[in-house]
Amino acid sequence: MTGYSDIVVDSPKSGVQHIRLNRPEAHNALRTALLGELANALSVAEQDDQVRVVVITGSEKVFAAGADIKEMADLNPVGIWKDKRPQHWNSIKAFSKPVIAAVNGYCLGGGMELAMSADIIIASEDAQFGQPEINLGIIPGAGGTQRLIRSVGKALAMKLILSGEFIKAREALYAGLVAEVTQPELTLKRATTLAKTIASKSPIAVRVAKEAILAAYETPLSQGLELERKAFLFLAATEDRQEGIQAFMEKRPPQFKGL
Ligand code: HXC
Repeated sequence: MTGYSDIVVDSPKSGVQHIRLNRPEAHNALRTALLGELANALSVAEQDDQVRVVVITGSEKVFAAGADIKEMADLNPVGIWKDKRPQHWNSIKAFSKPVIAAVNGYCLGGGMELAMSADIIIASEDAQFGQPEINLGIIPGAGGTQRLIRSVGKALAMKLILSGEFIKAREALYAGLVAEVTQPELTLKRATTLAKTIASKSPIAVRVAKEAILAAYETPLSQGLELERKAFLFLAATEDRQEGIQAFMEKRPPQFKGL
């Protein structure tokens, strides 16, 4: 697809759309234009039934090195007040279909926040994760202080955000930040295979499952269980549920239609 300069958006194949961050000259720093393009590409993908799952990736060396520090340097308080980035971040986070971040190399600051706003992170064993904002006299501003603690707990979240130190992919795996670690050359391939697997499921069940899991961030257990029960009941009325169960009985693969 054309019209973007900071990202490359492929046509969906087998229900999977790839979006590649593409600012090699700036280690994929997330300038406002890039975030705007990403928000736009996701809003198009939201409406496109051919897209069931999105895979976001960077280059072989860098997923994204964070917010664009040079752009930030030019912002005075009025500029920060008028800043469009929070709006773009909100659109990115509102995307209802599953997102997999395929991470090679540096995944820092806003880049790590982008990866954390994805639903699943697949990381190369050479990936490095960090929130180095403290080195600039600032703090994470796109969810880092809130999402990291929910992923890895207080001890590691504090260490990363207060010290600015990086961790490698294996440590991120043990801490629960990433779902899988792969050899560098296999990261995108594995993310794509996983995306195709998810894309082959009932899109309604996938969407409801994502919503229910994310609700756990916001709700106490009793409320979350109630929400899960209602979502479960809702799915009982779908054709996809009948098809899934029928296909099992008939020992054939299900044909989900999203109905
Ligand atoms: C703008 C960046 C950049 C960034 C790298 N570059 N990171 N430009 N914003 N975040 C540019 C460099 O200036 C340089 O351009 C080119 O990319 C290559 O970077 P090098 O530093 O030469 O590469 P290397 O030695 O390999 O070091 C890689 C690195 C380092 C460790 C990732 O670049 C780095 O520390 N980057 C900053 C990471 C960071 O602090 N991120 C947090 C940002 S704040 P030139 O033209 O000079 O060659 C943030 C807040 C989020 O994310 C808030 C959200 C609302």
